[in-house]
Parts: sequence; structure tokens; C-alpha cells
Amino acid sequence: MIAAKELTKIYPDGTEAVHRITFDIPCGECCSVIGPSGCGKTTLLLIFAGILRPSAGKALINSHEVTGPSKELALIFQDYGLFPWKTVHENVSLGLELRGVQKKEQQEIVSSLLKDLGLHGFEKNYPKQLSGGMQQRVAFARMLALKPKILLMDEPLSSLDALTRENMQNVLLQLWQQKRMTMLLVTHSIEEAVFFGQKIVVLSPRPGTIVKTIENPQKGSIEYRTQEVFFAKCKEVRQSLDGGAI
Ligand SMILES: Nc1ncnc2c1ncn2[C@@H]1O[C@H](COP(=O)(O)OP(=O)(O)O)[C@@H](O)[C@H]1O
Ligand SMILES: [Mg+2]
Repeated sequence: MIAAKELTKIYPDGTEAVHRITFDIPCGECCSVIGPSGCGKTTLLLIFAGILRPSAGKALINSHEVTGPSKELALIFQDYGLFPWKTVHENVSLGLELRGVQKKEQQEIVSSLLKDLGLHGFEKNYPKQLSGGMQQRVAFARMLALKPKILLMDEPLSSLDALTRENMQNVLLQLWQQKRMTMLLVTHSIEEAVFFGQKIVVLSPRPGTIVKTIENPQKGSIEYRTQEVFFAKCKEVRQSLDGGAI
């Protein structure tokens, strides 16, 4: 389980990014965080990742206070962070190489992930030879290779076109169903927040405080997107955001 307890972050220049944020995500569940630009969403993820320290309150992973980066956790951003001079296979195996995993085992893990993500046959391609959606899948494969138990995602699909984005949402949902990682998804998209989040945390403009936490027990299938309850939930989130520009 991961939890924020009264988390506050004030940057050295006095900017208060988030103010007394409290929520938790049970093991194996996915929570969405949505809120206007600049309300502290990235700040929140960086605190959980152990890269930033909170000014007050605590970030907890499995009841332990986060004090630095953890091997159990992976962070994924909007820009894919792939190395242009490395092939797809080399990009995905990078973390395994750094951990000293044997070549044969690396090969097995990478092949199986590339297959899962529909990238079979592209092992020897370079990132620039792939579409944005495929590059994002390579980035996901690289992160999944390390078998994280917790996945923090910062608007990971924002730079994809609408159709590719929907397709990647389906891929991600399936990955979550297979691997049951605990996931925290930061997104600008109301539909994406509702598609993924068992719980949807709605933040106010800066300093980000929790406006509402919306339970969303019906999520979990690709068809959810087309159902009335989905539209009703999107409306609820939209109303909580209070028409604020996001
Ligand atoms: N290192 C920093 N120093 C001062 N202010 C910062 C720093 N990083 C972010 N901020 C400010 O904190 C607020 C929250 O930023 P951020 O967490 O990136 O928001 P979001 O991801 O929701 O857009 C913004 O106003 C941003 O300008
Ligand atoms: Mg951000």
C-alpha cells in the first residue's frame, strides 16, 4: 500500500506546491490524480519516488516512510526518455544490464515483454524509426523489465494522438490486470482518470489540496468507456474540477 499523510511541499523559493494531501492506494490498485496545471501533481510523484523530500507530512510505502529511491518502484514520464543511439532491445535491457542480470535471462525477459507490448520484430530498430505510441511502449517495456511493484506515471500518454492514446490505455489496463502493480496515474484527461482509477483524487489549483476523492469501483474493463456509468463518473469529476482550466 502507498499512502500520503498530510503531505505538504514548500520549495526553497517559498512556492507551496501541495498542501496537506492525504490519500492511500491499497496494494495492487490503481489511483488517478487529476488537477489543474501547476497544482503539484509532479511534485507529489517526485516525493513518492524519493527524489524530493516533503516539507511536512509523510509519504509511505508499505508503512515505511520514503527516504530515498526504491527498487520496488518505477517512474514514467511523458517524454519517453529513450536513448536514441540504442536499439529497442538495448533500451529495454538497459536496467537489467545495470543490475548485472545474465545475458540469456535478459534476452528472455526482453523478448517476452516486447511480445506482450506488440513490439515483436522491432528489436533492432532505433527509437526514431518508431511512432510515438511505439516509443512509449518501449519505455513501458524498459520499466516493466525491472518488475516494479509500484508504478508512478506522470501524464505518460499526453503526447500521443487520440486513437494511439486509447489503444495505449487498453494496453496499460491489460498490463495492470496481468501484473497487478500498485499504480498512481497523474493525468490531465478526465476520461483517462475515470478509465483507470479505482479512486480518483481531484486536486485544487496551487497549492494543491484534495477537493474530492471519488470512488470508481466499476472501472477495470475496456468496455467501461462506452457505458452510462462511465459518463456519469466523468461528469462528477468535471464538476469537482469546477470548470477550472486544465
Ligand atoms: N524546483 C522548484 N522550485 C520552485 N517552484 C517549483 C519547483 N518545481 C515546481 N515548482 C512549482 O510548484 C508548482 C507545482 O509544480 P508541479 O508539481 O510541476 O505541478 P503539476 O505537475 O501539477 O503541473 C508549480 O507552480 C511550479 O511552478
Ligand atoms: Mg506535472
